[in-house]
This record gives sequence, C-alpha cells and structure tokens, in this order.
Amino acid sequence: MTALPSLRAPSPHPSPYAAGPDPDPDPDPDPDPDPGRRLRGLGIGWRPELAAFIAGRTDLSFVEVIAETLGTHGPLPTGLDRLVEAGVPVVPHGVGLGLGGAEPLQPTRVAHLAALADRLRAPLVSEHVAFVRAGGLEAGHLLAVPRTRDALNVLVANVRAVSAQLPVPLALEHPAALLRWDDADFGEAEFLAELAERTDALLLLDLANLHADRVNHGVDPDRFLQALPWERIAYIHVAGGVIRDGLYHDTHTHPVTREVLDLVRETTDRHPDPLAIMLERDGRYPSVDELSGELDAIATMAGYAS
Ligand SMILES: [Fe+2]
Repeated sequence: MTALPSLRAPSPHPSPYAAGPDPDPDPDPDPDPDPGRRLRGLGIGWRPELAAFIAGRTDLSFVEVIAETLGTHGPLPTGLDRLVEAGVPVVPHGVGLGLGGAEPLQPTRVAHLAALADRLRAPLVSEHVAFVRAGGLEAGHLLAVPRTRDALNVLVANVRAVSAQLPVPLALEHPAALLRWDDADFGEAEFLAELAERTDALLLLDLANLHADRVNHGVDPDRFLQALPWERIAYIHVAGGVIRDGLYHDTHTHPVTREVLDLVRETTDRHPDPLAIMLERDGRYPSVDELSGELDAIATMAGYAS
C-alpha cells in the first residue's frame, strides 16, 4: 500500500467545484472584498525532479505546475496525480500565451489552459504580462511589454478574452526583464494595477522579479509594493538568481538571495494576513536539506513558520 502525499489540502480556500450548484443563489451578491484569497500558505513549483521531495514535505499547502508541460489527456505525472486526488490546490502556470503580444492569441493555447484548469480542479490559473512571439518567431523567453496606453489596451483585450474562456480566475505575473522599453505612460505597479482594474484579473507578485527590476532598472520596491492593489494579489513567487556582469539574472537555478528573502519580510509586514507564497526552482536541484532550508527560510519570513 502506498501512502497518500503528505501535503495538506487546506479547507478554508473556496473551491469553485466543491460546493456544487447553489440551491438559493443570491441574485445580487456583494462583491468579494478580498478576491485574491484563493490560495493560502506555503507552496512550491511542482517539477518531476521534486516530486518525492514535495510528497514528503508536510507543510505545503499548494503547488503550481507549468501548464505547457502537461497534457489534457492521458495520465498525469506520478506524484502530481496523487496531489490532485488528495484535493491539494494545483495552479496551472502558463508561459506561452503571449498576453502582451500584438499577434492574435492562439485559441489552442487558451483552450489548453482552460482544460487543464478543469482537469486539475485548479482554484485559479496564472500567466504573464509579457509577449513571447512576434513576426512568426518564438522568443523562448518572457519579454517585457512597453508600459504604454497602447500596450495596456492590447493586454486588456487579451486578458478579457482569455478570462472569458477560463473556468476560474486568471492571475497575472510581472516578469523579470533584462531589457526595458524607453517610453512609459505608467509606473511599474500602476501599469499592473490599471490592468487588474480594467480586466478584474488577479495579480501574481514575484519578489525575485521585483528584485531583478531593482538591480537592473532602479525600481524602488517600497514604492512598487505601496502601489499594488493588495486585495487582488493571489499569491507570491520567490526564486533564486545570480548577478552576472552587474545584472541580476532570474535563473530559478540558484539559491534565493538574502535580498529577496528581505523582500518577503517587507511584504509580509505590509499585510496583516500572510499571502500565499511559493518557491520556483527549475534546475540544478539542490539536496533535500538545502531545499528544505530554503523553504523554511521563506516560511519564516512570510510568517508561516510554526
Ligand atoms: Fe515567477
């Protein structure tokens, strides 16, 4: 007999699937004052290489999985299937929609995300404020969108179109960009806030990306965090990176830096109720002890350590 994964399935977060049809629906429900709170606690990016580690860690409340690595049919990867069976929230994290691109969205990609959300019984889906292709070329990277009104209008149209096809809310992540466009009509956070306001989308705050923007582009984290609409933040990413030639690279293959952990603490101090937070690790996987220590440090800074 094999044991169930030791991840907890948190009960307080609302699942759009668990309750079934409301027998007495409120015809005029009050707007949710805290629409971002669909996830709680400490999480990690599920990767096949980390499946055993994740199954053995008892304090994880959710995982995120790269949407493009999963199919909508056939068996789920071993380990991930157990989490879904156990009711652990699994968030499909897309990297290929290109929401900020000038080219039309690819319907098959949108349909894939929607089908995955159903298949994983996901509480939400996440993607990026970025473009990934142009002129028939696939960049293979998340590229920064100019913070202009025109670019915002493109994003708004695309986010609305995707959201209309998803069975759950969409959370939007700001990527770490090595290169930036010169002209901007908005500040960093104001651009995200306006996008969320006009689309009703949630936000995914990546503190390593914020650190990258601080080092590479002089963004003030304090001002950035001050300007974000907190009620719309669905969860937080933390990842490792490295400085090369004076630029911070968001590698996901290096340890989480002290500066990023300090940003976790600063973010936690701003919000009375700890936000869901997770580690992204995508290669050069460390030892179990090292990875556990990193998660423990994040949990401590985020106010989740027991
Ligand atoms: Fe991220």
